[in-house]
Amino acid sequence: MSTSVLTDSTTTLRDGAFGNATELVCRECRATQPLGPFYACQECFGPLEIGYDFPQVSRADIEAGPANIWRYQQLLPVPADITSSPNMEPGFTRLIRADNLARELGMRRLWVKDDSGNPTHSFKDRVVAMALSAAREFGSTVFACPSTGNLANAVAAAGARAGMKTVVFIPHDLERPKVVTTAVYGGTLVAVNGNYDDVNRLASEIAGEEDGWAFVNVNVRPYYAEGSKTLAYEVAEQLGWRLPRQVVIPVASGSQLTKVDKGFGELVRLGLVDEAPYSIFGAQAAGCSPVSAAFKDGRDVVRPVKPDTIAKSLAIGNPADGPYVLDVTRRTGGAVEDVTDEEVRAGIALLARTEGVFAETAGGVTVATLKKLVETGRLDPEEETVVFNTGDGLKTLDAVADRVGPAATIEPSYEAFTSAGLV
Ligand SMILES: Cc1ncc(COP(=O)(O)O)c(C=O)c1O
Ligand SMILES: [Zn+2]
Repeated sequence: MSTSVLTDSTTTLRDGAFGNATELVCRECRATQPLGPFYACQECFGPLEIGYDFPQVSRADIEAGPANIWRYQQLLPVPADITSSPNMEPGFTRLIRADNLARELGMRRLWVKDDSGNPTHSFKDRVVAMALSAAREFGSTVFACPSTGNLANAVAAAGARAGMKTVVFIPHDLERPKVVTTAVYGGTLVAVNGNYDDVNRLASEIAGEEDGWAFVNVNVRPYYAEGSKTLAYEVAEQLGWRLPRQVVIPVASGSQLTKVDKGFGELVRLGLVDEAPYSIFGAQAAGCSPVSAAFKDGRDVVRPVKPDTIAKSLAIGNPADGPYVLDVTRRTGGAVEDVTDEEVRAGIALLARTEGVFAETAGGVTVATLKKLVETGRLDPEEETVVFNTGDGLKTLDAVADRVGPAATIEPSYEAFTSAGLV
């Protein structure tokens, strides 16, 4: 029997350690168990999520909060004093009206939720902030993750800021910028000869053997995952406290997409927005599209694949939340679609050219998927739509590096400029 603080059910938690969260709930059989460092149901081994007993929460309470995810602190599994412990303070990224892109796609009203503006330039800062709080409350000594890249950045940075030892595991063939922007924060970075699914399996094994390790997306995953709800809260608040009709979200493990749905549902239940229909669409790269394939085949089972795509941040061949993505997209009248690497590159260029937003490959996947969904008539161009850019293009420069460059190289003279025929 391990004595790990992360596996010992007798660990005592301080009062209010998880705010208004009250229990862990099985996503399969709905059995409940007390809050603790657990991620699998004791009854059926299904994945656990956080259950709450929310107080009355008003728009004014939220609006009076800080300009980061902690404005939604009452809706998250974190203590009331969360803002006083060092963390990355992610969130409240811009929601931009994308009229140029809308015009190009023949859409009426389109927004880009640009999460590249987070401290380490992806949405992962949101989920990692939640995992960090849980790791602190559980008394963990090591902050760790398997990662497709962006999570590595976020964990290494948050651990540095919190003064916690970090160990980050990545596939050996990750984009160089993502390696550098992880290693720079110190901590231990381990490159593994294998793909993400191999790295993830290794992490689960280590989590089972080592004491005191908080693997953000493995053994504290229920807490971690809640961070993605803040994307839903922000979009609704930034639209003036209402839900968008359609949302397009990239899918790797699928966690983010399912938590945006959970977040919208909570806002309605709390009376913070009016109930209104919404459709959630998932976006994958064709070279790693197990959820899209299941959606199209009408299957409930997601068959694992071996990823082969430039969208490395989305390259999870065996996605933990895949079946729940199918549930959400089918229930809300959305869809899951996939696009080729060439379409991903074109998607990055299209968003940059029309809106001045440089997305990483995941954003290219999402914009290209939006385009395809409009062209195939699955997404209604007349209805208000939000498309997510979840990461920064500077991290995946190679994806577009050979498509763009100077129009000409000239001598430094006016004559050379005019004779180049550029304008
Ligand atoms: C930039 C970016 N967007 C989206 C995702 C997908 O997240 P999820 O695993 O929650 O589906 C990832 C996952 O690594 C990512 O790095
Ligand atoms: Zn269960």
